[in-house]
Amino acid sequence: MPTATITTTALRACKQRGEPIACLTCYDAAFAQLLERAGVEVLLVGDSLGMVVQGHSTTVPVTLDQMVYHSRCVTRVAEQSLVIADLPFMSYATPERALEAAARLMGEGGAAMVKLEGGEALAETVARLTAFGAPVCAHLGLLPQSIHQLGGYRVQGRDAEMAARIEADALALQAAGASLLVLECVPSALAAALAQRLHIPVIGIGAGRGCDGQVLVLHDILGLTPGKAPRFSKNFLAERADDGANDKAEVSIEAAVRAYVAAVKAGAFPAPEHTLA
Ligand code: KIV
Repeated sequence: MPTATITTTALRACKQRGEPIACLTCYDAAFAQLLERAGVEVLLVGDSLGMVVQGHSTTVPVTLDQMVYHSRCVTRVAEQSLVIADLPFMSYATPERALEAAARLMGEGGAAMVKLEGGEALAETVARLTAFGAPVCAHLGLLPQSIHQLGGYRVQGRDAEMAARIEADALALQAAGASLLVLECVPSALAAALAQRLHIPVIGIGAGRGCDGQVLVLHDILGLTPGKAPRFSKNFLAERADDGANDKAEVSIEAAVRAYVAAVKAGAFPAPEHTLA
C-alpha cells in the first residue's frame, strides 16, 4: 500500500500558514484517483455513503463491513492524500468496540485516521484509540448518526448554551488526543472562534470560511445528490456549465473538483450564501 504523503503534521502546518485544507468524501477507487489528481488533500470515506451510494435516508444502516470495503477501495489507489474512515453507528459504543472497529478500518481498510461523532463523553474512547496508534478525527455540531435523536438536519449551536457545549466538547476531545475536528452545520462565528481557539485543524461543512479547511459530500458538488442538496453545499459542475466554459474538457468532473479545491484554497468557498448564521 502506498504511503500517504499528507500527514496530520502537514495539515497542522497548513493551519499555521493559514492555508485552507481541501477535503471531500470519497467512496471508491475511480474517484480516489480523480480527487487526488485534482489536488484534494483529505479523502473522507464518510458513512454518508449510506445515503448517496446505498440510497438510505440516514447514515444509521451503514455497517462496519461496508466501511471497511469502501475504505479499501479508496486506499488501494490513494497515494498522497490522508484517508479518514468513519466509524459507523454504534461501532464505538464502548472503548473496546471502538478499538476493534478502528483495527479493521485501519488494518483491513488501510485508513490513516478514524472519525467518530460525539462530544466529551467520547474523550476516553479518543484517548484509548490514540494510545494504541489510531489517529482520531472528532465530529461535532450536527451529528448525522444521531438524527433520530435530533429530529432533523438543523443548525446546531445557535443558542449560547449549545455553543458553550460544543466548545467544551471540542476542547475535551482535543485534550484527549484528537488530531482533527469536523464541525458540521454550526454558525460561522462559532466555528471561526473554535478554529482560533484550537491548535488542531478544524474542517467545516456548513460552518463558514473561518475554519481551517472545508469538506463537502462529493455527490453534492457534482449535482448527484438524491433529493435536495444542503443549502451550504454548491454544485461546482453546474457552475462550470453555467459559466459557458466552451472547451469540453473544462466542463468535466475533474474540472469541477479542481474548481472546488481552488475555491477552498482561495477562501472563496464557502461564500455568504453557503454560510449559516
Ligand atoms: O459521512 C460524511 O460524509 C461526513 C461528512 C458530512 C463530514 O461525516
